[in-house]
Amino acid sequence: VTDSTSTLTTPALVVDRPTFDRNRAAMDAMLPGRRLRPHVKAFKSTAMASVLRDDGHPAFCAATPREIEGLVAAGLVEDLLLANETLDTERLGALSDRALITVAVDSDTTLDAAVRGGVRSVLIDIDVGLPRCGCDVDVAGRLADRARRAGLEVRGVMGYEGHLMMVHDRSQQRERVEAAMAILKRAHDIVGGDIVSGGGTGTSRVNTWCTEIQAGSYTLMDTQYDELGLPFDKALSVLATVISVNTKGWIVADAGLKAFGMDHGNPSWDHGDVLFCSDEHVTLSPFELADWAVGDRVRLWPAHVDPTVALHERMWVVDGETVIDQWPVDLRNW
Ligand SMILES: Cc1ncc(COP(=O)(O)O)c(C=O)c1O
Repeated sequence: VTDSTSTLTTPALVVDRPTFDRNRAAMDAMLPGRRLRPHVKAFKSTAMASVLRDDGHPAFCAATPREIEGLVAAGLVEDLLLANETLDTERLGALSDRALITVAVDSDTTLDAAVRGGVRSVLIDIDVGLPRCGCDVDVAGRLADRARRAGLEVRGVMGYEGHLMMVHDRSQQRERVEAAMAILKRAHDIVGGDIVSGGGTGTSRVNTWCTEIQAGSYTLMDTQYDELGLPFDKALSVLATVISVNTKGWIVADAGLKAFGMDHGNPSWDHGDVLFCSDEHVTLSPFELADWAVGDRVRLWPAHVDPTVALHERMWVVDGETVIDQWPVDLRNW
């Protein structure tokens, strides 16, 4: 660990520790203990997950079987949910001696794969309006019965209302989430079990219908979620070095498409406009060109946390300009 951000090789992914700590505290106040099941897909770091476990959130969500494997390898074994469908169940079954692993299923085929792989417990994943995974309510009971006949524990239901994360008007968001969760409740009445799992950072303030909320981005945030006025601030930035200054009005720094997840648009900069990103470059139009010289450092805010983190090997944890720790992005490529 180096002691100042000025010595970091760029582009460098940087986490502001005081902001991260405030985000955790704000979420703990809203969703204490097992009311929150942190989703590791956003930050892909078992070091970070361990901090959340130590806060009293021992149950995690993952998006891929390999994220589950990484959590088990790090000893985070108490209650892991693969909040996603998979046919790749063999290793999940093998790990079930060491960890409580639950897998979402929404079809006979994914249920058969769970049984075949030796998975011991499932949630029935319900379509609550996002055109992605999840079955219709009228299929849920039959799937749950089949799972129980096969000897699996059916722990309940999940339904991810991802299409409602970015509804800006809070009362409209609450109304629409309530309608989506009414679908999930109907399924839960049929399926049984203790768990009703759903939600995410964007709906964490309004979704009072789930027994647990699957949120991950709140830890680090990004410019898109920042628009919602949630009680979380941006903790994640990419540090870059100015490598060229052009008197026609722009400067160029050494972080581009390979340093930022760009599906939600350009990163943002506090000292001017981001003109565009190319593979290894970002071209910036500063408010004051005269303020900038080759060798200066710039900090840019990513628009989408998950794919940005996945591009980097580690996060440098900083307090101001002091580097205090580094967290490997060890669930990367998983
Ligand atoms: C199944 C599932 N649950 C929850 C989330 C919420 O994650 P976040 O809090 O990062 O928005 C996601 C994000 O894509 C997801 O796919």
